[in-house]
Amino acid sequence: MCGIVGIVGDRPVADRLFDGLKRLEYRGYDSAGICTLDEGDFDRRRAEGKLNNLAAVLADKPLHGTTGIAHTRWATHGAPVVKNAHPHIVGPVAIIHNGIIENFKPLRAELEAEGRTFESDTDTEVVAHLVAREIEGGAEPRDAVAAVLSRLHGAFGMAFLFRDHPGLIIGARHGSPLTVGYGEGENYLGSDAIALAPLSQRIAYLDDGDWVVLTRDEIEIYDKDNQRVEREIVLSGASAASVEKGNYRHYMQKEIFEQPIVVAQTLQSYVRPYEGKVALPDSDLDLSSIRRVTIVACGTSFYAGMVAKYWIEQFARVPVDIDVASEFRYREPVLEKGGLALFISQSGETADTLAALRHAQEEGQIIAAVINVPTSTMAREADIVLPTHAGPEIGVASTKAFTCQLAVLAAFSANLARANGRMSEEEEADLVDRLQKVPEIMNEALDHDEDIAAMAHLVAPARDVLYLGRGPDYPLAMEGALKLKEISYIHAEGYAAGEMKHGPIALIDDAVPVIVLAPSGPLFEKTVSNMEEVRARGGKIIFVSDAEGLEKAGEGCLATIEMPKAHPLIQPIVYAIPVQLLAYHVAVAKGTDVDQPRNLAKSVTVE
Ligand code: F6R
Repeated sequence: MCGIVGIVGDRPVADRLFDGLKRLEYRGYDSAGICTLDEGDFDRRRAEGKLNNLAAVLADKPLHGTTGIAHTRWATHGAPVVKNAHPHIVGPVAIIHNGIIENFKPLRAELEAEGRTFESDTDTEVVAHLVAREIEGGAEPRDAVAAVLSRLHGAFGMAFLFRDHPGLIIGARHGSPLTVGYGEGENYLGSDAIALAPLSQRIAYLDDGDWVVLTRDEIEIYDKDNQRVEREIVLSGASAASVEKGNYRHYMQKEIFEQPIVVAQTLQSYVRPYEGKVALPDSDLDLSSIRRVTIVACGTSFYAGMVAKYWIEQFARVPVDIDVASEFRYREPVLEKGGLALFISQSGETADTLAALRHAQEEGQIIAAVINVPTSTMAREADIVLPTHAGPEIGVASTKAFTCQLAVLAAFSANLARANGRMSEEEEADLVDRLQKVPEIMNEALDHDEDIAAMAHLVAPARDVLYLGRGPDYPLAMEGALKLKEISYIHAEGYAAGEMKHGPIALIDDAVPVIVLAPSGPLFEKTVSNMEEVRARGGKIIFVSDAEGLEKAGEGCLATIEMPKAHPLIQPIVYAIPVQLLAYHVAVAKGTDVDQPRNLAKSVTVE
């Protein structure tokens, strides 16, 4: 992962590089560093941990210089300590790097055999040595980089600074994204348009295999065959304003409470209330020709996809295959030409999902993508983009992007059902009516915030927590467990309620809270039977249901949370809220870093 930013400028760069790092912190935050060229030599500051540590180092020893590179790290090779923080400097070369150099071991052995010594445990330092070796042998920087790139395997984005060439940065991309920004008497390089937003809105996205030479006055782009190429300059539209927390304690909390608004915003693109119709925005896709849908995603986005599998099969009667992206790509899936492959991603940059998307493209699939960041690589590479309008999601744990994904997927399922003659005009009009009311119902669910906060102490001391659900509540159970794990560090598992008796029931005792998601409806009685199995073994239940469900089975539970009753295509959007709030309040009770939990990053750009 990691974030990259570089400026070849005509005025001091350190503050602006630091601002770029703040915008890139979502890519990793276990260490950071900046290197500038000052009076003919490199000057570097690095710090372990969050960016405020680097800020303190910079305040103590400011950096000068008008050209520099900066990096925020998510460790792959080497612990998150200062010696492994980027930039790495070897002789006349400084480098920052995002991604993994897969063949770094033989390269390092080759360099060590020549007597070269290493200061870090990273794969990155190998590249610095290789380029330094070329330059020390007399090569010009661009020839040195071109020669070294041909020896590297893996996915990477990188930027180089050269001690003896002030006013020069070279960048390269293979797999990981890299963007250049055009300025006046300055030019910029960054992992994405968001990093560059305050610097320039005129940007070009590098293609895979491209490398780029930046000086103050010019940007020269070369392709993988070292041929000079032009890449289209576009207006990025990425917002330069930083997103504030407002009166909320955490971004995650703010984002949970924004959900009624952003889901309404998203649905506006998918619902025509006056006609009583659902519709996909700007798409020529003939839905009636779709015989099978293949859904691929990671993490929370994958759980949104699992909910969609239930919906698409139940309402449209179209078969759905679903995979986590890291498995899909390598298991040689059988894909019929012309099939629809649906990718779901908040960031649009997740390396596994992107690789899976490209694989499906090669296999002749029509590529649709449910994406939150419109400037992302996936949004640019998909045939059809189904946007979510959640706005920037800053909290590492995904919340509002998830419910917006569900809103889009509900509309997609309804469209498919209608195209297949499985939904009548009346049913469609009724659904549109109900979708219009989703924000209102979500607000009702959010009204339980204080009750849920008061329950946090029931879960916070636990070592293990089980979440149970059936049908679309099964993926929601897994989503609830994921949220709890990632921000409170409590081990949690989401299980299909009926599957509990096949193993996890052995875990049940009075120290393992069991959170049961069971709206009244056809599956209710079955889930309640599983809940009784828990109760019979002394298990402590937190029961989430509607008034009817609580009336029937709420007695004797450790705690209950009442949700409004909703249409099946809406209910998972509503039930997402209590699981998010519970995880949030448990994390607050435990005093963890809610917005930037340990070991995680918002955008996962390594495989
Ligand atoms: C969990 C979470 C992650 C992401 C996953 C995919 O709260 O945020 O599991 O859902 O890394 O990310 P995107 O959706 O950006 O592809």
